[in-house]
Amino acid sequence: MLSDIQETLLQSLEAFQSTQLVKNKYENILEHLDSGVMLFDSEGVLTFINVQMARLLEVSRKSLTGCTLLQILRHPQLSRFKKKKILRIYRETIFHCKKYHELTDESGRQWLLTVTYGDQMDGDYLFSVKDVSDFKQIEQTAYRNDKLAMLGKISASIAHEIRNPLTAIRGFIQLLRPHLIKLGKDEYARIILMEIDRANDIIYEFLNSSKPSAPQTTVIPVSSLLKEVVLLTESEALMKGCQVLLHDDILPLHISVDVKQIKQVILNMVKNAMDAFDLLTGENGGLIEIRAHRDNKNVHICISDNGKGMDHNTLSHLFDPFFTTKESGTGLGLSVSYRIIKNHKGYIAVNSTVGKGTEFVISLPIVEIV
Ligand SMILES: Nc1ncnc2c1ncn2[C@@H]1O[C@H](COP(=O)(O)OP(=O)(O)O)[C@@H](O)[C@H]1O
Ligand SMILES: [Mg+2]
Repeated sequence: MLSDIQETLLQSLEAFQSTQLVKNKYENILEHLDSGVMLFDSEGVLTFINVQMARLLEVSRKSLTGCTLLQILRHPQLSRFKKKKILRIYRETIFHCKKYHELTDESGRQWLLTVTYGDQMDGDYLFSVKDVSDFKQIEQTAYRNDKLAMLGKISASIAHEIRNPLTAIRGFIQLLRPHLIKLGKDEYARIILMEIDRANDIIYEFLNSSKPSAPQTTVIPVSSLLKEVVLLTESEALMKGCQVLLHDDILPLHISVDVKQIKQVILNMVKNAMDAFDLLTGENGGLIEIRAHRDNKNVHICISDNGKGMDHNTLSHLFDPFFTTKESGTGLGLSVSYRIIKNHKGYIAVNSTVGKGTEFVISLPIVEIV
């Protein structure tokens, strides 16, 4: 009899120990998951929080576990920014039954927060949060590439439609030329032909830069490329009362590029910088600085201005075709630039602060000359 009881007790103990082991194992996994996890019970008390979530909130797990939501919102170590976000999530979850929340933290990283509750959770609320910045980046690039491909198609067909009548006009003017010479108006014919050729050139350039063609590359020193671009901007800068300053203390760096295309990119950026100076504050002196430096792999060409800067919305649509904030803008400059730099296996980065200015950095693979 006694041995029966002993046996049952032993079995229960073993069963308890093995459940405890499993529990510990799962708790351990949850604690160190790369997603942040926390669990509130039906009374609104935080019963579990893992390492990643506590790290995200920048508050120790110990001081949070056992707190109610109200206590968390009053926690002295939790930043105001985070308290505001938590309150917003709480409202949207409770009043709008929202189960997915997209969040951006102080450093600009993006997170997806999922709330699970209902019958299967016994009244508990499970919050899990995951860093989705990289996915977002891929999504945005795919979206941008899609739009650029579309832009390429549209521009190719428009260019085709415009070129045909231009060719016809060119032919007829040449036929009329002898009559115009007789009238002493050869100059008119010359101008018409010249302008038609120029229009054709513009279409060709645009088509070339918006369709994904391989660039016609030559190896060129960065400093001479930048000097030529600055020369091209001088008269416009003078007219707008701003200064383009080239820091030409550049080491002998070389890149292999389609010179025309890269000039177009830098010109687009300098022109945008010129547009970013408020006419009213013109006397403060608009300054555009161009400099270049290198790292192991790339040359970085920086074009910075002390203009009006950009807000979050402008920054997030910057490279979209046809996105412009200007009355007479086309919104093509930066999308075409993006395409050109991508074709050169480079990339563009932007830093901007409203009211302070903007910096564009074009990075292109360096060519080592030995
Ligand atoms: N240096 C800059 N400073 C402030 N805003 C800028 C700057 N560069 C670009 N932008 C913003 O990006 C938008 C898109 O630029 P872009 O593609 O060149 O088209 P567009 O110049 O025709 O508007 C501009 O309308 C402007 O709002
Ligand atoms: Mg522009």
